[in-house]
Amino acid sequence: MPVKELKKGVYTVGVNHRDRKLFDELIPLPDGTSYNAYFIKGSQKNVLLDTVDPSQDELFKNLEEMKVDRIDYIISHHAEQDHSGRIPDILKRYPEARVLTNPKCKDFLMDLLLLSPDQFQVINDGQTLSLGDRTLKFILAPWAHWPETMLTYLEEDKILFSCDLFGSHLATAETFVKDESKVFEAAKRYYAEIMMPFRANIVKHLEKIQNLKIDLICPSHGPIYDKPSFILKAYKDWISDQVKNEVILPYVSMHGSTQKMADHLTRSLNQKGIHVKPYNLTETDLGQLAISLVDAASVIIATPTVLIGPHPAAVYATYLINALRPKIKFFSMIGSFGWGSKAEETIRSMITNLKADYLDPVMIKGHPKEADLKALNDLAERIYQKHKELNLL
Ligand code: FEO
Repeated sequence: MPVKELKKGVYTVGVNHRDRKLFDELIPLPDGTSYNAYFIKGSQKNVLLDTVDPSQDELFKNLEEMKVDRIDYIISHHAEQDHSGRIPDILKRYPEARVLTNPKCKDFLMDLLLLSPDQFQVINDGQTLSLGDRTLKFILAPWAHWPETMLTYLEEDKILFSCDLFGSHLATAETFVKDESKVFEAAKRYYAEIMMPFRANIVKHLEKIQNLKIDLICPSHGPIYDKPSFILKAYKDWISDQVKNEVILPYVSMHGSTQKMADHLTRSLNQKGIHVKPYNLTETDLGQLAISLVDAASVIIATPTVLIGPHPAAVYATYLINALRPKIKFFSMIGSFGWGSKAEETIRSMITNLKADYLDPVMIKGHPKEADLKALNDLAERIYQKHKELNLL
């Protein structure tokens, strides 16, 4: 990513990682990602805000191109290695630099990067640092991915360096958001996969920054927001308690019975004015499933029985849904079995994080018959009544 001056003396020096396909060996990255790092040349002190993933070298090229001969502080917002990974190498090149971070992040960095205590300067929530002509204010924001995450506000220039918060996995030549619909989708995917489990914390962080005057939001991934209201408004919607009149239906079927049940339930719900998003778990992009969980009111898992339990694809999806803690209000399941099944009790035991009402499931023997289709219509009616009680339709 070429160096770009964002405001006088404030530069973006990070890198795009266009061909990265997975994050944490788990999260699909259809558009690659970027590791954003920033450099501020103050009248008395120079700071580097975060580094980049250990696989990337372009940060050093950027600093050389800018002829940076001194770094006083490396501000570490987050110990995860996609941002901290090159701190040891920066310290080798700029041995006068100190890693400036909060106590928890210091502990993590010592464990993860084997840094020593004398390489740090510790700050706490609300503390400021003068660079001479500028002032940095540090805002602790635990669980804006990990427990040690924090933000930095550059007061004079009204820039919020937001770490993973407001990020998007998007490698792009654009420094600032240009295609809002593309960034919206990428940021929503990012929120769903990274931030949604910590929704209650994110609510508090947004309250904490709501009175800041912000011209630019500079996240650690994806393009910079020069119209911050775009992403702030999106986040307010995602973290709200409001849900949409939607049923998410992740399904897997071996011999067609569960597929037929899922299709019938979809039609029945559609006839009642409820929007259904089915996801075939043998081929779906789990990132798309995660995005849909941000707003939906209900989830129905559809699984056949394999070796007495749920299909492993349904187990994986249920595990993920439980881990992501969406704000869904209702959960149920449907499925078919041959001679016996513990699929329901297994799936039900896996949703301990969800604050959703469990609606009676429809588990049937063999191919669906008239009575089974009627049971699915009854489930659709229960969902309809529940959505109606919430004024969703
Ligand atoms: Fe981008 Fe949680 O690291």
